[in-house]
Amino acid sequence: MLRRLHPDQPDSFAFTPENRAWAEAQISKYPPGREASAIIPLLWRAQEQEGWLTRPAIEHVADILGLAHIRALEVATFYFMFQLAPVGSVAIVQVCGTTPCMLCGSEALIEVCKDKIARHPHTVSDDGTLSWEEVECLGACSNAPMVQIGKDYYEDLTPERLGEIIDALRAGEVPVPGPQTGRYASEPAGGATTLTAHVEGRPEHNASVARALALGDTVKRIDGTEEPFSATWTDQGGRPQG
Ligand code: FES
Repeated sequence: MLRRLHPDQPDSFAFTPENRAWAEAQISKYPPGREASAIIPLLWRAQEQEGWLTRPAIEHVADILGLAHIRALEVATFYFMFQLAPVGSVAIVQVCGTTPCMLCGSEALIEVCKDKIARHPHTVSDDGTLSWEEVECLGACSNAPMVQIGKDYYEDLTPERLGEIIDALRAGEVPVPGPQTGRYASEPAGGATTLTAHVEGRPEHNASVARALALGDTVKRIDGTEEPFSATWTDQGGRPQG
């Protein structure tokens, strides 16, 4: 798939002071002369700041790392995790379309996205809240079909359930992620047939869902409030302390 920069670009980009400090700390992980190794986290942070990766942001990251712009453009256009077009203000719905999910109904999920979000992928909905794209296997094939929304997975989906989830996101709610059919994790759809002793008295949600609910950051962008970055990398990076 050809990945091009979006035709409409902002005039400029600059990291927030917090993100700039974070970027400098990331760079400090690497020895002098190897600063370019920090390009993926810096591009990702720029995307988290704006929602998508603009040309000024890509060039800004290249300038920070002392790279020719084309080297950063090569990275940004190669990896599909980088969004090269504006995304919904609430979330982008990433529908897995690889074989197991396709066999279990992902094409019907894509039709829901077309009906409820936008006719074409990488297009922001009329209300600005959502966009969608088809992605390759997200590693949850045993709970196909599934989508990723923000940081979490919604699994064992039906078109009806995905429609409800999209409506809820629009209403400012974040539905509980994980299996959507009452299945606990990835045991057989009819219930566990082995290790049944672990069924009795288990927590309400599987570990992934419990973690997602505890963090509550399914559709929250990284903004520096997550974990303070303490640069303890100087020994590995070969840079002098301080
Ligand atoms: S095929 Fe969809 S998660 Fe693997």
